[in-house]
Amino acid sequence: MCPPGWSLETVRIPAVSSEKSRTLAIIGQGYVGLPLAMAAVDAGWIVIGIDNLDAKVGQINSGKSPVEDISDARLGTALISGAYAATTDFSAVAQASVITICVPTPLDNKREPDLSLLQSAAAAIAPYVSNETLVISESTSYPGTLREVIIPIIASLKPKDSHNIYFASAPERVNPGDSVWNQKNTPRLIGSLDGASQAKALAFYESICDAAIPVSTPEIAEAAKLLENTFRLVNIALVNEFTRLCAAKGINVHEVIDAASSKPYGFMAFRPGVGVGGHCIPVDPLYLTWWARQSGERAEFIETADAINHAMPEYVAQRALAIVDPLIIKPRILVLGVAYKPGVGDVRETPVTELRNYLIAKGAIVAWHDPLVPVWEGSKPVELGWECDVAILATSQPGMDFERLLERGIPILDCTNSLKNREGIISL
Ligand SMILES: NC(=O)c1ccc[n+]([C@@H]2O[C@H](COP(=O)([O-])OP(=O)(O)OC[C@H]3O[C@@H](n4cnc5c(N)ncnc54)[C@H](O)[C@@H]3O)[C@@H](O)[C@H]2O)c1
Repeated sequence: MCPPGWSLETVRIPAVSSEKSRTLAIIGQGYVGLPLAMAAVDAGWIVIGIDNLDAKVGQINSGKSPVEDISDARLGTALISGAYAATTDFSAVAQASVITICVPTPLDNKREPDLSLLQSAAAAIAPYVSNETLVISESTSYPGTLREVIIPIIASLKPKDSHNIYFASAPERVNPGDSVWNQKNTPRLIGSLDGASQAKALAFYESICDAAIPVSTPEIAEAAKLLENTFRLVNIALVNEFTRLCAAKGINVHEVIDAASSKPYGFMAFRPGVGVGGHCIPVDPLYLTWWARQSGERAEFIETADAINHAMPEYVAQRALAIVDPLIIKPRILVLGVAYKPGVGDVRETPVTELRNYLIAKGAIVAWHDPLVPVWEGSKPVELGWECDVAILATSQPGMDFERLLERGIPILDCTNSLKNREGIISL
C-alpha cells in the first residue's frame, strides 16, 4: 500500500538543475534498475527512472512495484517524497550527474549476445548527456562492451558542447528474492578507463554501497561478472550430472551433498534441479563462449555445462513419467512452480518450459501452479486440487500447500530438496 496522501498527481520528474550533482538517472526499471533506484533514494539521491515501456512507467508511478524485492510501500514512499519518479522521456538524463544503464542483455535466436537494447539505450541518452556526467554500465556483457560498444555510441551522438564525460563499468550483482544480500551490502566492482572516471564512479557507489572495489579496467569488471555466473552454471551442471549418476544407483544425492558439505574447506554445495533459468545464469556464460570464439578460442567446458543443464528437463520428465502407472495412456501431470527460482515471479529462461514441452510431447496432460505467476506462456495456473497422477515440484514457491496433494496420495517428484522425509515424496 502507498502512504496516505499519495496520488498519481504527486508524481513529478524533479526539476532539479540546481541539484544535478546528486541527481541520478537509471535507464531500465526492472529487477536491477528499480532496486538500485530505491537504494539510491535511501542514500540521498534524487532518482529519475527511465524505461522505454509506457506500461511499466505507468505502473511504477501509480505505486505498484513490478519487482518482488521492492514493496509497494517502499516505492510509494520514494514517489511521495519527490526523490523518485519514472518516465519514458530520455531528455530527463540532462538533469543528472550520474547515469546508470540497467537494460537487458539477452541472447538472440542464434543464442549469441544481443546488445540491441543496450545500444538503443546508449543512443537514446547520448543527445542529452551534459558536461561532467558519469555514465555507468551495470548491464552484464562480454569484456570490451563499455569501451567498444557504449562509448563510441555516446561519443558520436552526444551534444558537441558536452565535454568531460566519464565512463565506468560496474556490473550489477543483485540476487532477486535474496533476503540477505542486496545492493547496499553486496560489494561492487568498478572498472573505468581513466583515473578521473574511476574516482567519480567509486564516489558514486560508495554513497550507495557498503563496499566499492576498484579494478584496473572495465574489461576486468566485465569479465569478473561473467566468471561469477559461469562458476554457478558449471557447478550446477556438475551436480546435475552427479545426480543422474547417484539416482541410477539408488543413492540420495542430497545426502551426498550434505555429507560433502561437512568438509570445512574446498567444497561449496550446489543443488540439482530442473535446469537453470533467469536472465543471468543460462545467458551470461554464452556471452563468454561467444567472446571466446571471437578470438578463435573455444570454451568447451562451459559449452558442456550448458548442454548438461539443458538435458535436465527431459531427465526430470522421464523420472516423473516413470512414477506414473504405465497403464495410464495420458498421464495428468501438475508442475509446481514455473518461475526460475523461489520467491520471484520471473519466468525468463525458466527450464520448466522445456520440461512441459517434453511432457506434452510424450502425451501427458500438463497443468501448472505458481502463486507468484498469474499467466505463463498464454496459460493460467490451476489450483492444487487439480486431478493429477503425479506432481513435479520444480520451484518451491512460498505459499504452496503441498498437504493438499499429499493427503490425496499424489506422489510428488521433488526437484528442490524442500520436502524431506515425507511419504509420497520422491527426491530427484
Ligand atoms: N535480474 C537479475 O537477477 C540480474 C542480476 C545481475 C545483473 N543483471 C543484469 O542487469 C541487466 C538488466 O536486467 P534486469 O533483470 O533488470 O532486466 P529487466 O527486464 O527486469 O528490466 C529491464 C528494464 O529495461 C527496460 N528497457 C529495455 N530496453 C530499454 C531501453 N533501450 N531503454 C530504456 N529501458 C529499456 C525494460 O522495459 C525493463 O523494464 C541485464 O544485463 C542483466 O543481465 C540482472
